[in-house]
Amino acid sequence: MSIKINKLEIENVKRVKAVKIEPTQNGLTVVGGKNNQGKTSILDSIAWALGGDKYRPSDATREGSILPPNLHIVLSNGLVVERKGKNSDLKVLDPSGNKAGQQLLNEFVEQLALDLPKFMEYSSKEKANTLLKIIGVGDKLFELERQESEIYNRRRTIGQIADQKEKFAKEMTYFPEAPKEPVSASDLIKQQQEILARNGENQRKRQNLHQLEQDYNHINIQLQELLNKQRAIEKDLEIARKSALDLQDESTEELERNITDIEGINRKVRANLDKDKAEEDAQDYKRQYDELTASINDIRQAKIDLLKGAKLPLEGLNVEDGDLTYKGFKWDNMSGSDQLKVSTAIVRALNPDCGFVLLDKLEQMDLDTLKEFGQWLEQEGLQAIATRVSTGDECSIIIEDGYVAGAEIIEEEKPTWKAGEF
Ligand SMILES: Nc1ncnc2c1ncn2[C@@H]1O[C@H](COP(=O)(O)OP(=O)(O)OP(=O)(O)O)[C@@H](O)[C@H]1O
Ligand SMILES: [Mg+2]
Repeated sequence: MSIKINKLEIENVKRVKAVKIEPTQNGLTVVGGKNNQGKTSILDSIAWALGGDKYRPSDATREGSILPPNLHIVLSNGLVVERKGKNSDLKVLDPSGNKAGQQLLNEFVEQLALDLPKFMEYSSKEKANTLLKIIGVGDKLFELERQESEIYNRRRTIGQIADQKEKFAKEMTYFPEAPKEPVSASDLIKQQQEILARNGENQRKRQNLHQLEQDYNHINIQLQELLNKQRAIEKDLEIARKSALDLQDESTEELERNITDIEGINRKVRANLDKDKAEEDAQDYKRQYDELTASINDIRQAKIDLLKGAKLPLEGLNVEDGDLTYKGFKWDNMSGSDQLKVSTAIVRALNPDCGFVLLDKLEQMDLDTLKEFGQWLEQEGLQAIATRVSTGDECSIIIEDGYVAGAEIIEEEKPTWKAGEF
């Protein structure tokens, strides 16, 4: 259940002489008055009473007062909170009369409800993160953002490498006429040897012809009687002549040239292979870059989906690119009254047990906005104690010279604690 302030009595704190207020349970209690009358001093007193010593004003005791500050707050859960006496010690009593302390108050008093300007001074990111924490998606969104920025950085590096690689590959020379594979000298030599072997065979055939011719001549000289033999040999001779005519030697010239130029060719082959590899490399990095882009888009979509599904404390609130927005506007583009409304809604949601919030300087809302804001507070079941430089009808009370205007003035020199209490 949300805890509210039922009653409030302040004496001799800062500008306040003596003030008693019974704020409305839901909606606005406007503490009005001219400048320097003690309005903000009232809020400072509440913060000090409920928030602990870190909210103690630097000059807490009202100047000119011979009495120390006296704060008395009754809360809707029955707790009575007091600060009084020489040291302004805190005293908390529960409805059964048991003593309690700051720790109990801290359970339901939201620090930012006592000090809304602190929230308003948060950076844009901090405000957004507070909202995300409230709606319970902070961790998930934080994780998504962490992933996004990690992949984003990776992609940037990969993109730079991809560009360099592409440029590098482009600058490399390419020889379209060079073979695909490096040429091996031993292959060429082997081919050469095979040709030489075939040529050797030709040579042998030529020698055979020569031998036959010799035989023929020899036989011609001697032999009539060997005519038969001569004819046979003549036949052979004819055949041999024919086959000799078809014989053709292959040239090893090209191979010889290749052997001489082997280094040149292989240089080109290697250059081509290097270029192919570089291009492949560049494409590989480009592919990685595109994959990372797809991941970033997925994460961004996941973030949008995450927020779409969350329940926000105020309609129109959102987080876009890590910044808090209201009705599409970032903090610095929101009107002052919207900033107050947004802050109140977020701070309210931070600790739903805290049913009140303190709002200083509400004069930045015009009367219509103020009314609308009051209605929203009522609808939210939130109690707001606010100050406003005004003495108009919208004010619940008017503070004048540290008193509630029109209230019976307490005799200020009379001690409010019993003698011998300290
Ligand atoms: N301990 C103190 N004793 C007496 N006066 C003090 C003390 N501390 C601050 N003041 C005075 O209180 C005045 C401010 O009080 P407070 O801030 O409550 O006024 P306010 O009504 O909120 O004024 P504004 O409309 O300008 O915001 C200042 O003039 C300041 O000098
Ligand atoms: Mg003020």
